[in-house]
Amino acid sequence: MTKYVRLDKYLADAGAGTRSEVKKMIRSGKVRVGETVIRQPEFKVASVSAKDGGDAVLLNGVPVLAQPEFVYYLLHKPKGCVSATEDRQEKTVMEYVPDSRKGLFPVGRLDKDTEGLLLITNDGALAHELLSPGKHVEKTYYAVVQGVVTPDDVQKVSRGLDIGEDKETLPGKLEILNTHPESDPPKSEIRLTICEGKFHQVKRMMHVLGKEVLYLKRISMGPLTLPENLKKGECRLLSEAEISALKNR
Ligand code: URA
Repeated sequence: MTKYVRLDKYLADAGAGTRSEVKKMIRSGKVRVGETVIRQPEFKVASVSAKDGGDAVLLNGVPVLAQPEFVYYLLHKPKGCVSATEDRQEKTVMEYVPDSRKGLFPVGRLDKDTEGLLLITNDGALAHELLSPGKHVEKTYYAVVQGVVTPDDVQKVSRGLDIGEDKETLPGKLEILNTHPESDPPKSEIRLTICEGKFHQVKRMMHVLGKEVLYLKRISMGPLTLPENLKKGECRLLSEAEISALKNR
């Protein structure tokens, strides 16, 4: 159902100016809706752009596109911030999002010391779909662990592990990328793909195998992959292709 908003809000949300600046523009006759000059800031227009069936809103003859109702950001979360919208003591992931609108939140959590891909949106329905345990959305992590990961560990992960929950973990895919038995302490680099999101799940799975996670980074979630050129702390909007891949998975 189309939502209607005041013309001054439509323009301000679209970045045409502050609410009081756009009111002045409207009153001075600079704004048209279709062919008609509208001088009332309270005039109601559809909150979507003309290409999506809304009104053609023009400022000085130039079309102003509506701010989409839902936005999707991909953040390369750095270490040292918490996956929350607010926190009294800690820096939150929202500080890296260049958008101050209300209602944005991170989809799921990465630990304070975990880096990598985090989706930030205001689309509650999509977030619910992605987080719902029954949907089995795959998440892949790169980790450096203390200890030498073995083919036997790979087998155990593929069968499911008892990490102290009611049920064992669902089968996961553990890949050994490199082992450094000679280093002090011995270390391994691994990739782990799981389709659940239990609290500290990767760290707990590795702990059960006698390995401690030293470094953890999420590199993909469902169809989204952390882009190589997105630096830690950088955030960008998802492309249309990424959004539809997420919605149609
Ligand atoms: N598993 C963990 O242990 N930590 C994370 O941040 C994500 C998955």
